[in-house]
Amino acid sequence: MAAETKKSGFSSKLGLIMATAGSAVGLGNIWKFPYIAGENGGGAFLIIYLACVILFGLPLMMTELFIGKQSGKSAFGAFRELRNNSRWQWLSWLCMITSFLIMGFYFVVTGWCFHYLVAAVGHVFKDLTTAQLTLHFDDFIANRPEVLGYSILAVIFTAAVLWFDVNKGIERLSKILMPLLLIMMFLMAGRVLMLDGSNTGMEFFFHADFSKLDTRTILSALGQCFFSLSIGMGALITYGAYMPKTQNIAATSLQVAVLDTLVAVLAGLIIFPAVFAFGFNPAEGPELVFVVLPAIFEKMSFAWFSSILFFSLLCVAAVTSTISLMEVAVAFISEATAKNKHPLDRRKSVLVVMAVVVVSMAACIYFPVVFKGFDTVSSCVLMPLNAFAMALFVGWFLPKADIRQGIVHSPIVAKELGKTEKWRHNLANVYIQIVRYIVPLAIIAIFLNGLGIW
Ligand code: PHE
Repeated sequence: MAAETKKSGFSSKLGLIMATAGSAVGLGNIWKFPYIAGENGGGAFLIIYLACVILFGLPLMMTELFIGKQSGKSAFGAFRELRNNSRWQWLSWLCMITSFLIMGFYFVVTGWCFHYLVAAVGHVFKDLTTAQLTLHFDDFIANRPEVLGYSILAVIFTAAVLWFDVNKGIERLSKILMPLLLIMMFLMAGRVLMLDGSNTGMEFFFHADFSKLDTRTILSALGQCFFSLSIGMGALITYGAYMPKTQNIAATSLQVAVLDTLVAVLAGLIIFPAVFAFGFNPAEGPELVFVVLPAIFEKMSFAWFSSILFFSLLCVAAVTSTISLMEVAVAFISEATAKNKHPLDRRKSVLVVMAVVVVSMAACIYFPVVFKGFDTVSSCVLMPLNAFAMALFVGWFLPKADIRQGIVHSPIVAKELGKTEKWRHNLANVYIQIVRYIVPLAIIAIFLNGLGIW
């Protein structure tokens, strides 16, 4: 394991927490959360989302990290390693397919962020009205070759990180940029709350009107929770594999889940008051954040500087997520072909993944229905399905003693023995019951509910 920790380039436990947080915090929080919450009525969605993070997010994050840590393998080899047979190999395949679907549209939105960064540098949003900002977005999207160009740029950046194995650099960068992103978002939230009319947005986001819910809302919240926490496609298995045996999975998951949720809620706190203050529509859809943000910067001091800083941070947050997405597919392909006559090494696998991603990105750009389809199928079908299978895998097929050891073990100081150990033991037992019964049954119930059957 020591060798692997070194191989991954992560220098410390904190480094791994940062990398996991880097995977979790991204466009899911800042782009997707506000627009899905906006489409699903705001406050009621927020409450269901928070419930999903506690009930599903935390235990399933622990589950995936545990599978990785225990096996020391990526999504391709983990299930086989732990069961000593290949009966669960289909789950590895599903993880890889999910990663490709997500990459198809995620890179496109990362490309949008790159475009907005360039536009911020040119200060093209200065003095634009609400309608003009929407028009800017629509014009940009209509220029498909340009969108494709920006998206390819995002793919190249990500591939370069995997190609040169510069995780350590990324880790150092995230340690500085992630807190900076948080500070920036707090400042923006503060500014937006001072705008006239921001109260309506606060009301929309925090007042839970459950009469607005329809059957799909719970499934959307569940899917958004998985997407935002990077659960259910193997990314966390890969990072778990790099964890030292002494890392406490429960604590790591809690830290990352809290941070991720904080960023999502902050994004809502920025977007919704501004939406109402400027007269946008909260159910605008995927463009919501991109039309609202530039309007906010124009109200901030140092508008030009603020917008450049924010969009740079957004691009970095997006790329730390795409790295973990691409890593799943790259590790899968290089391990799957390792025993072939012509094995694909890491770099060749990067090239193969890039080629497939460019094709699926083009499909997303030229056919909006593909974009929407990849997004919905990955979040609302595949990720819950994979996570469901992973919960069953750990809950029913792995030895309980291993789970207790793996989930809550951390170096035990002599004086801590006794009470603390007992507490840990009980915590692990609660976790086991949750992944055995509660998570699988609740996911089935939400599926039936989403399909309108129940
Ligand atoms: N969690 C990332 C985000 O919120 C997206 C992601 C999903 C990354 C799945 C890796 C795996 O932006």
